[in-house]
Amino acid sequence: KIYNVILSGGSGTRLWPLSRESRPKQFLQLFKGKSLFQETVRRNANLVNDFMIITNEKQYEAAKQQAAELNQPLSKKIIEPIGRNTAPAITLACLSVASEDVLFVTPSDQMIGDSDIYKKNLERAITLAKEGYLVTFGIQPTRPETGFGYIEHQEETVVRFTEKPAYKMAVEFLEKGNFLWNSGMFCFKAGVFLEEIKKHHPEIYNSSIEAYKQSSEGLVPLDAMEAIPSESVDYAVFEKSDRIKVVPSSFFWTDLGSFDALLDYQEQQQPIDGLKIIEGEDNHNTHALADKAVYGIGIEDILVIDTKDTLFLMKKGQSDKVKAIYNQAKASE
Ligand code: GDD
Ligand code: MG
Repeated sequence: KIYNVILSGGSGTRLWPLSRESRPKQFLQLFKGKSLFQETVRRNANLVNDFMIITNEKQYEAAKQQAAELNQPLSKKIIEPIGRNTAPAITLACLSVASEDVLFVTPSDQMIGDSDIYKKNLERAITLAKEGYLVTFGIQPTRPETGFGYIEHQEETVVRFTEKPAYKMAVEFLEKGNFLWNSGMFCFKAGVFLEEIKKHHPEIYNSSIEAYKQSSEGLVPLDAMEAIPSESVDYAVFEKSDRIKVVPSSFFWTDLGSFDALLDYQEQQQPIDGLKIIEGEDNHNTHALADKAVYGIGIEDILVIDTKDTLFLMKKGQSDKVKAIYNQAKASE
């Protein structure tokens, strides 16, 4: 059986005030009425047998409702009382299926295009997974982004996996050329992943087994979850294992993790629902996401986000500071 395991964590800070704790960015219906989560479900519906969601209580409600809108049930769930990052989440997913089942693990917050290429790349990944490999999808890098993992490769062979390199190293990787970005999507047999996590991070393996034993109907108890070390799968497994393969992929892929990324996406791909140019006189490169009419005079490079309780104005190009503003706003609540 092939499962699409959808990971949904995150605290909704980077698109604040649009995204909130109970409604992180993957559930915002900004793309022709659909959310990134719904795009993920729709993209994979014909390519897998079943869906499994791993998330927290609040986001599970959003996920269930949005999957129902697509008539696509989420047949398995794991509810985490607190997040322990992706290595424990994926380990729990593997424990809940048969060891020969293939898991296609995807984030729920990416935008992906080119469905024929995507299908071909996924089919190749499933073949390699069945042969016993842990498979990643490699994307051609376009800038020395330090928030991603880098895969040094020769075709499907992985020389080295480096998670979130320092800026200087990322620049070197781009110059060398034989490096791909890790897309954050993975494909493997559950049993193979469990062998590798046991080998490279036995603490996560053992505490996850204990937590899985104690959970019922996918609900993991808080103290059992707290006992699992927090670590991402990239550090815990992919940097260390020698059973990694990469499928070099050429479908359109983007991590819509900031307002600037959303603005770029609108410019290069397709319109974002409700994101409009600010009307008025002498304005240049201004946008607003608002239900109201928005006018301006002589303003430049501004993004306005209007929500029920918060009005947010941002100079374009500075969306890396949104998280700090979120923390300020939260502290003064
Ligand atoms: N259920 C659950 N529990 N999901 C989680 C948790 C958790 O504790 N932590 C993170 N996630 C989900 C996030 O919501 C996201 O969908 C996915 O797992 C990846 O987590 P991120 O926190 O977004 O990881 P990242 O962006 O720093 O890095 C990963 O993705 C990059 C590509 O976007 C890595 O895999 C990088 O190597 C990769 O380049
Ligand atoms: Mg991410």
